[in-house]
Amino acid sequence: MQSITVAGVRKSFGEVKALRGVDLEVQKGTILGLLGPNGAGKTTLIRALATLLLPDEGSLYVEGYDAVKEPDAVRRLIGLTGQYAAVDEQLTGRENLVMVGRLYHMDIDAARVRAQELLEKFDLADAADRTLKTYSGGMRRRIDLAASLVNRPPVLFLDEPTIGLDPLSRRGLWGIIHELVTDGTTVLLTTQYLEEADYLSNNIVVIDRGVVIARGTPQELKTRAGGDVLEVRLSRPEQAIQAQAALTSLGDASITAPGVLVLPLPGNGKALPHAIRALDGANVGIEEFELRHPTLDEAFLHLTNRIV
Ligand SMILES: Nc1ncnc2c1ncn2[C@@H]1O[C@H](COP(=O)(O)OP(=O)(O)OP(=O)(O)O)[C@@H](O)[C@H]1O
Ligand SMILES: [Mg+2]
Repeated sequence: MQSITVAGVRKSFGEVKALRGVDLEVQKGTILGLLGPNGAGKTTLIRALATLLLPDEGSLYVEGYDAVKEPDAVRRLIGLTGQYAAVDEQLTGRENLVMVGRLYHMDIDAARVRAQELLEKFDLADAADRTLKTYSGGMRRRIDLAASLVNRPPVLFLDEPTIGLDPLSRRGLWGIIHELVTDGTTVLLTTQYLEEADYLSNNIVVIDRGVVIARGTPQELKTRAGGDVLEVRLSRPEQAIQAQAALTSLGDASITAPGVLVLPLPGNGKALPHAIRALDGANVGIEEFELRHPTLDEAFLHLTNRIV
């Protein structure tokens, strides 16, 4: 079941073509990670889905409602965090959450109960009655996310939700996001932290200059970037050519530094013993070797052609 459907969306700001025909789908109760370099169009797409701007062309549906023709229905179903925060500096954390509840037409008691629940969930109970002016960056992020959850939206748009958070707070937020999805929430997430997309996302869409350049599961994208990689450091650097020759049956090893060879080894490293035996058979001494998975960073750089 699809929760979010985007088809053929285009949007220009004057000369700048921010979105040049984007299609994507998010299944209910899953997280889609939207990745792309700065200026790729991620925030523009989220703003269009959140009914904050109109596309020039194309359609955007949230839970079956048209974001262009039925913006009110869509707004009732979504939570949004990012640079649009509706929180008020002069109010306390608690007052902010109660205010948001009131905006969603909760009665005052229900709004207070919900505010307390969220303050506890986000570890803000101790700071609940201080004004936001006194909050740290991480606390601001957490109250912002809490505010987007007041009305228990089935669909959540998170635009770089953990930017500027320390690793511990980031993990904490990941846990909360994970829990929300387990409970059935659909999440569209943008992030600059590829590790975060890798950890959280069921599927990833990479956009660059307003078009989708890759999509798949985190694992598929990593595999597409070349599969596993064997890096060997030889005991005697002068044996590099000999080592390269010994490995030809397994693939093209490149010499990346004196005495260091790198060999792509697809198939989850099943060929590793063969590689070691081939080197041994050619009397090539190995000082150390490492079989590593490409990181999502490497996959991302590969996909966006930022390095070759
Ligand atoms: N309101 C606007 N007016 C003019 N140009 C805009 C506007 N909003 C976005 N743009 C341009 O559209 C392009 C896409 O911007 P967008 O904010 O969607 O990128 P992004 O992928 O979110 O980038 P980042 O990773 O830096 O947040 C950029 O070139 C940006 O300058
Ligand atoms: Mg952005």
